[in-house]
Amino acid sequence: MTTPIVLVLGGPNLNLLGDREPDVYGSATLADHVDVARVRAREHNLDVEDLQSNHEGELVDAIHRARGRCAAIIINPGAFTHYAWSIHDALAAFDGPVVEVHLSNPNAREPWRHTSVIAPVAAGSIVGFGGAGYRLAVDAVADLLE
Ligand code: DQA
Repeated sequence: MTTPIVLVLGGPNLNLLGDREPDVYGSATLADHVDVARVRAREHNLDVEDLQSNHEGELVDAIHRARGRCAAIIINPGAFTHYAWSIHDALAAFDGPVVEVHLSNPNAREPWRHTSVIAPVAAGSIVGFGGAGYRLAVDAVADLLE
């Protein structure tokens, strides 16, 4: 049997993690977070593929490519979280579980961050736990896939 693939997607500005507002997002890079996810995924007998993009359409395309190929998606959509309905719709057309992750807790920040257009198409959201959120998201996906 082939190992199920979990797609870990990152939205705009996450390529700057480690450098960008470390007081808010911490000092780890996105590669560090993906590594955490990959190590945890191995423990659950899952594989990780990852993609970060600053472009909404590229994320939509990646979600389309995941259809029928990936078992689950973990997504930190960055600021797209708050308004990118095309990502909402693409995820709605994906048949496996979706887990939304945020390093910070958007609900405790500016009002415009309190809305997530991704949450309605996610099985759940893990927010405010920093990089641990990626490990928790893999655990959640593993549970959902059981
Ligand atoms: C973020 C929260 C978003 O509001 C913000 O635009 C980001 C990062 C987080 O991981 O905390 O880029 O998704």
